[in-house]
Amino acid sequence: MPLVNSKEILQDALKNRYAIGAFNANNMEIVQAIIETAEEERAPVIVQASQGAIKYAGLDMIVAMVKVLAERTFIPVVLHLDHGTDYEQNIRCLRAGFTSLMFDGSALPFDENVMLTKKVVEMAHAVGIPVEAEIGQIGKMDSSDEPGVAREKIKEFFADPIEAEKFVKLTGIDSLAAAVGTIHGCQEPIAQLDIPRIEKIRNLTGLPLVLHGASGASDEEVRKGITAGICKVNIDTMIRMAFTRAAKEYLTKNPQEIDPRKVLGVAKEAAKEVIRDRIRVLGSQNRV
Ligand code: G3H
Ligand code: ZN
Repeated sequence: MPLVNSKEILQDALKNRYAIGAFNANNMEIVQAIIETAEEERAPVIVQASQGAIKYAGLDMIVAMVKVLAERTFIPVVLHLDHGTDYEQNIRCLRAGFTSLMFDGSALPFDENVMLTKKVVEMAHAVGIPVEAEIGQIGKMDSSDEPGVAREKIKEFFADPIEAEKFVKLTGIDSLAAAVGTIHGCQEPIAQLDIPRIEKIRNLTGLPLVLHGASGASDEEVRKGITAGICKVNIDTMIRMAFTRAAKEYLTKNPQEIDPRKVLGVAKEAAKEVIRDRIRVLGSQNRV
């Protein structure tokens, strides 16, 4: 079917207390892995592209790949811009056919974040496309940090529930990425989610909440987060790790291999297993 808008599937997840997997795609094999697995699991899915992925693959190329595969399947597929940190990037993605946007103004002062997010919302809503935005700051893992140090460091950047409520009212966004205990790029499950904070933000805003940096959260933390109000769970690092590890292992065992299809085929299968496992933890399987 044609690409769908994220609003409807996130509202269903919110109502029925599960979460939609939002998987980052960086190349053709990963796009295939995401959509094939979601179809096998009968799970609605979000394929997301970061600004880095767009720079690497080209905007038109990403849209074309995702559209072709979405049209071949019966499951709902959303194409989402992940961490769009500028207004122009959001406009380009909207024009190119993305069906969900994110404006990430979390590095900006609150008022500026509100002003730019609102501008993106006005533009996107004019053509029926929903917008996610970020409050607090979900940092990136510094490899030199011990887990305990990292967990402490991020606390000062947690989303403030009252500020989140104000932000939602002022901007009119459709979903909210709030800093609640995860860090981008973790290769181990070290996150401790601030569950009361998630519940408070959920009650004050009424919006589907988005968990970024979810590769660093254990299954148990993710499930607790979903019960508290998380409806979209972003996964990138876990896929990268599985994909590259499988390719490395294959090449170590088969050093003479020169066929990229063999190397990337094995990597794709490894990515599919991670995606399948996440879909089951999120409870989004058999929803279609
Ligand atoms: O926006 C993307 C995500 O938040 C992915 O985070 O790489 O830690 O899984 P992750
Ligand atoms: Zn993120």
